[in-house]
Amino acid sequence: MSKPQVFVTRIIPDEGLEMVRTAADVDVWQGELPPPYDVLVEKIASVDGLLCLLTDTIDRGLIHAAGESLKVISQMAVGYDNIDIPAATERGIPIGNTPGVLTDATADFAWALLMAAARRVVEADKFTRDGHWKTWGPTLLLGPDIAGATLGIVGLGRIGQAVVKRAQGFQMRIVYHDIQRRPDLEEKMGVEFASLDSLLQESDFVSIHTVLSDETHHLFGDKQFELMKPSGILINTARGPIVDPIALYSALHNGKIAYAALDVTESEPIHADDPLLELENIIITPHIASASKQARTKMATMAAENLIAGLKGEDLPNCVNPEVYSLSA
Ligand code: DGY
Repeated sequence: MSKPQVFVTRIIPDEGLEMVRTAADVDVWQGELPPPYDVLVEKIASVDGLLCLLTDTIDRGLIHAAGESLKVISQMAVGYDNIDIPAATERGIPIGNTPGVLTDATADFAWALLMAAARRVVEADKFTRDGHWKTWGPTLLLGPDIAGATLGIVGLGRIGQAVVKRAQGFQMRIVYHDIQRRPDLEEKMGVEFASLDSLLQESDFVSIHTVLSDETHHLFGDKQFELMKPSGILINTARGPIVDPIALYSALHNGKIAYAALDVTESEPIHADDPLLELENIIITPHIASASKQARTKMATMAAENLIAGLKGEDLPNCVNPEVYSLSA
């Protein structure tokens, strides 16, 4: 019997790719950059399965272009704001994602950014390389204390909770905001619920861990930066469009907040002439929070498991639109 046909939109870690190869005939896009949209349209018309990344636009038009044979779309990421889920559900196509396996890697990286921003690690490295280190300086490159400070977590899901666990070792006061209050976690984790406005007013560090949706698009704008402390530091490892970049530039430039550390930006990659890149009080990394070897390997194997289950007509182990199963029953 011939194997199902699969298109994989980038070279993914071997462990995942090998699993897919044993189950299907695989066409892997070899480019360093994502396949153009017209290539996706052409491929999705004929394959049984698509393994994609957050850099692929899987919109309604693309889903409509899918052939009758398409049984599954498996994304190698936990976030899926690049995929039109209602359109996929209408077509009866299950969508897989990779929750859980990148939680620790992402929380570690949020902490790396928090500490690097507070203690000005990137600036200090540049200072040294540029030959400015003349002596030990009593006021050289000072930053705020982390221990004992107040940390505001926006979004107390898996990753937000993992960031809280790390903060406990720093004796921080931790406040959180989430659309869903979590009384079950408040005592257990030592976190206090706050409105977003109060969280912004009280926190020394604000770390974003919410999904991108219509409600959270530009959740951080001029008003929110006005509320933050002038010494406040913003960390974003979630999705770029949650922060309005024009408002952020103005807040950093005008001293409304002290520092920002972003792993995600509104457009990715950030444009070379983006004004944010002119600022000294910002760190910007290229969406690498989940980039530990272990996390990326597990993301690839989990994406492969979802894909293979979908090809066999089985329920995906991690499906973001399980309602497809009741619709087709
Ligand atoms: C995800 O899985 O959504 C992450 O952003 C990948 O780093």
